[in-house]
Amino acid sequence: MKALVLSGGAGTRLRPITHTSAKQLVPVANKPILFHVLETIAATGVIDVGMIVGETGPEIQEAVGDGSQFGLQVTYLRQSAPLGLAHAVLIARDYLGDDDVLMYLGDNFISGGITDAVEQFRKERPDAQLVLSRVPDPTAFGVAELDAAGRVVGLEEKPHHPKSDLALVGVYLFTPAVHQAVRAIRPSARGELEITDAVQWMLEAGLEIRSGELSGYWRDTGSVADMLEVNRMLLESQERRIDGSVDDTSEVIGRVSIASGATVRGSRIVGPAVIGSGTVVTDSYIGPSTSIAEDCCINDSELASSIVLRGASFESVRRVEGSLVGRNAQVTLAPRRPVAHRLVLGDHAKVHIQS
Ligand code: DAU
Repeated sequence: MKALVLSGGAGTRLRPITHTSAKQLVPVANKPILFHVLETIAATGVIDVGMIVGETGPEIQEAVGDGSQFGLQVTYLRQSAPLGLAHAVLIARDYLGDDDVLMYLGDNFISGGITDAVEQFRKERPDAQLVLSRVPDPTAFGVAELDAAGRVVGLEEKPHHPKSDLALVGVYLFTPAVHQAVRAIRPSARGELEITDAVQWMLEAGLEIRSGELSGYWRDTGSVADMLEVNRMLLESQERRIDGSVDDTSEVIGRVSIASGATVRGSRIVGPAVIGSGTVVTDSYIGPSTSIAEDCCINDSELASSIVLRGASFESVRRVEGSLVGRNAQVTLAPRRPVAHRLVLGDHAKVHIQS
C-alpha cells in the first residue's frame, strides 16, 4: 500500500496566511498540521508516500524533505493546478502503480489514528473504504447516505440538502479500481474532479464500497476557527515541560510547554500553552489555548486562545484573543493622538476591531 497525501490547493479561507505559505504547514501546538498527518500515516506501517504539491511545493519539500524524519519515503508529485482530489489521483497513476492507496488530505486533523481502518481494509479489501463522521453542518463536506443495514447507497459533494449528517473525513482507502473511476468522471459545478463523484461512480458500477464511523476527533482545518479549535484540543493533551528560562517574577500555571531557548520574564502564563524556542515573553500575560512559535517577541501584552507564527511581535497590546497571526507580523500600540487604528494589512486580511 502507498499513501497519497494532498498538499496542493489554494487555502482561500486562510488568506492572507496562505498567500505566502502552504495551509498544511500552519502549525497547531507549534507543529504543522501536515506533520501530524505524516505521523498518523507512519503509525499504520505504510512507508511510501506520494505528496501532491502545487505552488507551495518548494516550501513543503523544505519542511518534509525525503520523509526520513517520520520514517517515511516521500516522493513529490507536482499538480499543475488544484483541479480536484480525483485529479490528484489521476496524476499519481504511475507513482501508485498497482498498489492499494491510502489517500489522506493534508489539512485534515484526526486524533486517535486511522490504524484500525487501515487494518480492516487490508483484511477485507473492498474497492473503496470511506471514513465518516457526524457533523452539525454537512453542507460543507462530502456526505454519505447509508441504508438501514449501514451500506453506502449514495454520495454527494457539498449538497444543499444533505441526505444525512455523515461527512466524508479526508481519509480514503482504495484498491487500484479507483483509477478507472477517476478517469471516468467529469468536473463538478465548481470545476473540480471530485473524489466523491469517483466513489459514487464506483458505487453505480457495482463495486464494493464500505464505510466506518470515526470514533475520535476530526477537523478539516480549512478555516481559522477550525485551526484554533484543533490547537486548543492538542494543547489540552500536552504535558507540562519547562526547558526554557523563566525568572522568579514570572508565574507559569498548568500544562505549559516552554522550549529550550525561550525566555519568560515578569510574565504570567496560564496553560495549556506552548512557547517556542527563541521567543522572549516580557511583562505579559499569555492565556490558555495559545501557541507561540519560535523567535517571537511578546512585550507588555496580553494574548489568549491564539496561534502566533514564527518571528511575530506584540508590543503593549491588550488584549488579543481568537487570532491567527502570521510570520513576522508586528502588532503594536498606536500613539495616543490622534485616536486611530493604523493598519498595514495583507490582501484578504481580516481584522476585528474593538473600539
Ligand atoms: O475535509 C474533508 C472534505 O475534504 C470532504 O468531506 C470532501 O468530500 C472533500 O471534497 C474535501 O473537501 P474540501 O473542499 O475541504 O477540500 P479542499 O479543497 O480543502 O482540499 C483538501 C486538501 O487537498 C487540501 O490539503 C488541499 C488539497 N488539494 C485540494 C485540491 C482541490 C490538492 O492537493 N489538490 C487539489 O486539486
